[in-house]
Amino acid sequence: MAGKIAKSFIDELLARANVVEIVERAVQLKRAGRDFQGLCPFHHEKTPSFTVSPDKQFYHCFGCGAHGSAIGFLMNHDGLGFVEAVEELASALGLEVQYEAGSAGPTAVADHSGLYRVMDEAQRLYAKMLREHPARARAVDYLKGRGLTGEIAKRFGIGYAPPGWDTVCAALAHDSAARKLLVEAGLAVEKEDADRFYDRFRDRVMFPIRDRRGRCIAFGGRIIDAGEPKYLNSPETPIFHKRHELYGLDQVLGRGKRPDKALIVEGYMDVVALAQFGVDNAVATLGTATTGDQIELLFRHVSEIVFCFDGDDAGRRAAWRALETVLPLLKEGRRAGFLFLPHGHDPDSLVRAQGPAVFGDKERVTALSTFLFDELAARADPSTIDGKAQLVALARPLIAKVPPGPLRQLLSQHLQTLSGARVRFADAPPPLRAPAAAATRSGRSARAGRHVARPEARLIELLVRRPSLAILARDLPALDVAASPDAALLVALLETLEHTPDMHVGALLERFRDGPHAAHLGDLLAREFVLDESRWESEFSNTVAKLTTPDPRQVALRRIGYQRPLPDRDPSAAD
Ligand code: UTP
Ligand code: MN
Repeated sequence: MAGKIAKSFIDELLARANVVEIVERAVQLKRAGRDFQGLCPFHHEKTPSFTVSPDKQFYHCFGCGAHGSAIGFLMNHDGLGFVEAVEELASALGLEVQYEAGSAGPTAVADHSGLYRVMDEAQRLYAKMLREHPARARAVDYLKGRGLTGEIAKRFGIGYAPPGWDTVCAALAHDSAARKLLVEAGLAVEKEDADRFYDRFRDRVMFPIRDRRGRCIAFGGRIIDAGEPKYLNSPETPIFHKRHELYGLDQVLGRGKRPDKALIVEGYMDVVALAQFGVDNAVATLGTATTGDQIELLFRHVSEIVFCFDGDDAGRRAAWRALETVLPLLKEGRRAGFLFLPHGHDPDSLVRAQGPAVFGDKERVTALSTFLFDELAARADPSTIDGKAQLVALARPLIAKVPPGPLRQLLSQHLQTLSGARVRFADAPPPLRAPAAAATRSGRSARAGRHVARPEARLIELLVRRPSLAILARDLPALDVAASPDAALLVALLETLEHTPDMHVGALLERFRDGPHAAHLGDLLAREFVLDESRWESEFSNTVAKLTTPDPRQVALRRIGYQRPLPDRDPSAAD
């Protein structure tokens, strides 16, 4: 297992990478002074509020607050994990990822390359078995019987795990380390209290489950005759977390395709059959109800999600669960709807019976808002006063889940129309951080007039815009890091910049990724910041001076007219 990626390597990587080039692959940018501007890819907008700064190696959206480095962009926009993003950037620049020596501790970033390799080998082995194994006819007949062409089976990498107990073990595990890896990958099972191993998947049609980059991370194995379980799936492994993955996403996004809309269905076979009929924007959950992580993952790539469910009671209940899950994720520019299938059909059977048109038909899609109010009206009769009150009671908490924006506003207006009751939601986004009461009241901030941020927050705001200002904080007395999140973050920033004062903002942010200050730093960056650049330096020094509060002894001395000389201080900055 390799260790954690070296911090110095990330600095180096970000010093060489150009965030503008990375962003430009996805967003059309125009030069605007020293920066570049474009339409934000993280929310829907008509006028550009998304800025990319080559000086800071940092992107930032003034509309939705999205921000980050080149690594952050690959993570947030392309949906890569941190390690993947670093690897991608490194390989684009021809650099080899460097790891910290001897850092393989609990926090180390694990190297899963062995698992990916063995999953890939297994995938190819199962595909080969479908072509060559003596018992292959069973599987081939089954697939043919379900109407799949060889071409589509190949596209989805479908294979066959033959009936024996050691197809995979014999082919892929030559020593005990390799056997361990097979067990870790979920391909082999170790017999209890015996050093013996056997294949997990036997006599099943194998569906490789791939991540969005197309790497095989798990399998779903379908039984050929009737039997239980119908689908046997890989267990959770270090590279497979079923609640975070969507079957077929690699195909939906493959070859540079950028669909606006995606369908979420329930079965592997549904995705494959739909693709065979040209409906190539469907993904499936992996045997669980759709999770928020899956929806968020999909919304990073498409603006509309349509959930396909059976039209029966169970289907509507499942659709309702999906509705509750999706509500908090409906930021501006995102849409969700439901496609209820005729009773007794799943997408696989429906596309075979009626063709692909159904799945592209806008008329067939029930808008989320329609489904929401239809369901509620069925539970609380809006023709009576009591029913109206109940309707409000049921709808309020649901509407409150929707992020502030046009959808929430329209839903609440509709509720108001239906019920006649006044329904209000605070429509401003919640304050990023409650303004510190002391600072708001303080005469000093009022005099400064420009802002109400506490001095610590002000210093952070300036530092993240120009890290080199840190040098002006040399004389800052030790701050009580327990006093506030601002103080803790400020100290952490200054410590980092003490050694590397010429860091870009982007690289600085990366240092704080996943740390205790990451969210807070994000909040501060998302704030509007209006102060002409020419004044950043003086603002910084003045704010440092505010924090350099004299100790009580000094106050006492001052009161009797004695001023202790202060080291090297800009006299204009003194209070
Ligand atoms: P379904 O039972 O609806 O099967 O399971 P299906 O997709 O229509 O499959 P076919 O058409 O009979 O082959 C839907 C999904 O639920 C998960 C699988 O992900 C499956 O695709 N599932 C189902 C399991 O994980 N295990 C099971 O035993 C059954
Ligand atoms: Mn089916």
